[in-house]
Amino acid sequence: MKFASLTLATALTGSIALAGQVGPEDVAFNDDGAIEASLTGAPGDAANGAVIVGEKSKGNCVACHQVAALADVPFHGEVGPPLDGAGSRWSEAELRGLVSNAKMTFDGTVMPAFYKVDGFVRPGDAYTGNAPEGPLPPILSAQEIEDVVAFLATLKEE
Ligand code: HEC
Repeated sequence: MKFASLTLATALTGSIALAGQVGPEDVAFNDDGAIEASLTGAPGDAANGAVIVGEKSKGNCVACHQVAALADVPFHGEVGPPLDGAGSRWSEAELRGLVSNAKMTFDGTVMPAFYKVDGFVRPGDAYTGNAPEGPLPPILSAQEIEDVVAFLATLKEE
């Protein structure tokens, strides 16, 4: 068992530490919770970002946010503010920080951190004591974070 979890940890670390990429544990937030540099060193793909924002198995941002540009995706929630105009309200660095770990911008927010691998309350701990140990993969990859940031940057105030 010990052997298996060791192998898993190695595999995860391996997949996170891709060349030229900033791993979740190495992200540099500034005092306002923004991240200046691209996590991949390359610009994101806004079209793919739109898909991630609407997809339940990925960002599922629409569970909490309304996005007029994604009107064809059903059931937008109202837990958070509408994302329309987010590209005018926030700089690219601020958006990158918000999507990676919104708690660095909004203390104690319910918005999940999408690029984070430690410091979670393990879902299994309280109930079964069988929560997985070792690093968890981030919800979104560095490339997916950059794609979402690129999409949000297109949401300008009319
Ligand atoms: C569980 C609900 C939830 C989910 C899921 C969620 N957010 Fe949020 N988000 C919030 C809340 C609540 C706020 C407002 C901050 C606060 O006061 O806590 C917020 C704030 C924001 C803001 C700043 C809002 C503004 O003023 O323009 C952006 C941008 C944002 N979220 C983007 C996203 C993106 C992109 C995703 C998906 C990758 C996402 N959120 C997923 C709850 C959520």
